[in-house]
Amino acid sequence: MPEQSTEIKKKRIFSAIQPTGVFTLGNYIGAIRSWDTLQKEFECIYAIADLHAITVMQEPSALRQNTMRAFALMLACGMDPEKSITFVQSRNPHHAELSWVLSCSTMFGELNRMTQFKDKSAKHSDNINAGLFTYPVLMAADILAYNADLVPIGADQKQHLELARNIAIRFNQRYGDTFTVPDGYFPKQGARLMSLQDPTKKMSKSDENANACVYILDDKDTILRKFRRAVTDSDAEVVFREGKDGINNLMTIYGAVTGKTMEEIEAEFAGKGYGDFKTAVGEAVADHLEPVRTEYARLIADKAYLTQCIDTGSEQAYRITRKTLSKVFRKVGFIDRK
Ligand code: TYM
Repeated sequence: MPEQSTEIKKKRIFSAIQPTGVFTLGNYIGAIRSWDTLQKEFECIYAIADLHAITVMQEPSALRQNTMRAFALMLACGMDPEKSITFVQSRNPHHAELSWVLSCSTMFGELNRMTQFKDKSAKHSDNINAGLFTYPVLMAADILAYNADLVPIGADQKQHLELARNIAIRFNQRYGDTFTVPDGYFPKQGARLMSLQDPTKKMSKSDENANACVYILDDKDTILRKFRRAVTDSDAEVVFREGKDGINNLMTIYGAVTGKTMEEIEAEFAGKGYGDFKTAVGEAVADHLEPVRTEYARLIADKAYLTQCIDTGSEQAYRITRKTLSKVFRKVGFIDRK
């Protein structure tokens, strides 16, 4: 009798990031850092979401360059093409194909409730295109094509993940069991980092105020300056408390890069002023990001290696989703493809 396999199937992880500029500290702490940690235990698949990026106007040559940079940055943040599948979304046509099928199982009203669509339409009122509206269906296709179990994301993507779950459940009910219903995976600290200039707003790449956002390739002086200028409040106590949005945000960032708890941070800065605290946060962030900057500089100079990683990763991704797409096409009644 053949020996029974004792190997337990690893959970599968999928996540992606848009190549719309250098990643922010929010992207890093909210998502990418867990992508790295998860690689140690799970089967991980990570993409640069260039299809999503064209929902807002992009200069084509800049998008091409930013996609390459984002890919290099993803590797510099620890994603290892030997351990995980790392690729570029547009290089696997199944994402767009599945997105069409899933859009026929997604209700207009569901998409109309997406807060990110509302925010982005307000920001890009001259270009409210259909892709901006159906963007969450493409995101659902990204996740469901791989039958991912877990999706490491920041809090701003929670509503999109909920929709992906609902689409999966609806499709499974209608056509029989097809998709894994994915769960979100959120960091304990920093699922939503706030702007350094307006701590009631999310830290975002597109913020017009250059001091609002830390980019992970900023040099040490820039990082220190941005933290020194961070908006706080008029009392002087480093404590995590309701109403102290600026300090809460800085404590969250400090905790995320040092591993310290809020109590430990409060004790460390008891009796000290905000100036000392802000400098300490800046120092800790700059030191934490230094290896990423060094590794990025090395990788971006090696285009041949990056291209080869993208080619290999995209083929690996294609091979996985081909199975899902065959199944989906059969279920919905399309004629078999060879
Ligand atoms: P994107 O490119 O806007 O952001 C990438 C990741 O960073 C997280 N994030 C934050 N986390 C904490 N605080 C912040 N201020 C902050 N800003 C951004 C985001 O939550 C995200 O996890 N639609 C996605 C990309 C995508 C995707 C997917 C994600 C496409 N397909 C499939 C997961 C699964 C997006 O635009 O993320």
